[in-house]
Amino acid sequence: MIRSVVRGTGAALPRRIMKNADFEGMVETSDEWIAQRTGIRQRHIAGDDETTASLGEAAARAALANAGLTPDDIDLIVLATSTPNNTFPATAVEIQHRLGMHHGFAFDMQAVCSGFVYAVTTADLYIRGGLARRVLVIGSETFSRILDWSDRSTCVLFGDGAGALVLEAAEGAGTIADRGVLAASLRSDGAHKDKLFVDGGPSTTGTVGHLRMEGREVFKHAVGMITDVIEATFSQAGITAADLDWFVPHQANKRIIDASARKLGIEEQKVVVTVDLHGNTSAASVPLALAVAVADGRIKKGDLVLLEAMGGGFTWGAVLVRW
Ligand code: UT7
Repeated sequence: MIRSVVRGTGAALPRRIMKNADFEGMVETSDEWIAQRTGIRQRHIAGDDETTASLGEAAARAALANAGLTPDDIDLIVLATSTPNNTFPATAVEIQHRLGMHHGFAFDMQAVCSGFVYAVTTADLYIRGGLARRVLVIGSETFSRILDWSDRSTCVLFGDGAGALVLEAAEGAGTIADRGVLAASLRSDGAHKDKLFVDGGPSTTGTVGHLRMEGREVFKHAVGMITDVIEATFSQAGITAADLDWFVPHQANKRIIDASARKLGIEEQKVVVTVDLHGNTSAASVPLALAVAVADGRIKKGDLVLLEAMGGGFTWGAVLVRW
């Protein structure tokens, strides 16, 4: 059977780093509160010349270089983002143009923080369905542009950045020993749409709007939802937490990551954590964390890696990949 195997990873971050202490003069907060409640110590914030498209392009180029490929080798670009450069066309098409790609096709996916997990699953289906052989899957965000910088309960939590994977069709035996995407479980429930949303949009206010979140409510649901989709993914693949080499969760809050890992019985040393460095970069958080753990040599060929995310909608999901 056809499997979607990871050929390369890449990442891109804005030049400017904003430390927790930099918020102290702006809103009533402290480095101590942010670090203790979230695990975040710093985040990158896009400058005027840095956009979702430019960061996505840079991450894509890094992933292509890591894979030893060029844009000519790619059939499809799937970009996960909730902060597109424009309402339309899709920012994926702008990235396609920036890469000098005049063939294939490109589109955006919008599942907020779960966007990358949805995008990997979608790309896998395009590959297994024979519509594409090599896919660039990108998560790129500039949440700094939709934050209310006077709201301490949200502005300290998010950051900007991009990460990318190249997925490639390869023959597999159809077993858990295959390399590639092995199992996935996706969920959404719009009953929770008012707990994490943007208060504007083209069809309602005609404005971009600002991010609003009932943080405590999101927190309350997060661990249960995350562990449910992971257990569904484990049972699909016929594995347990003990079989995993690496757990790469969505990077929103270190307390959510720790509680999910504890509930699932995943050992602490198998958990990749980058929330301290990047904050919550929404759809970019999982591919940024992956790029870090691949670059520092933790994730190696043959490792069993579990990706997970949960966010606005609510949306949530998990994907199991043998590297
Ligand atoms: O990526 C999508 C998914 N999103 C998430 O996973 C986010 C989930 N939620 C969270 O991570 C946490 O709920 C937060 C980090 C947002 C908040 O942590 P918490 O422990 O749930 O705090 P809280 O909302 O219960 O607020 C505790 C107190 C409040 O004050 P009172 O009402 O107790 O007087 C807040 O007003 O902390 C206050 N507070 C702050 N204080 C200092 C809220 N934000 C800040 C701040 N600095 N930045």
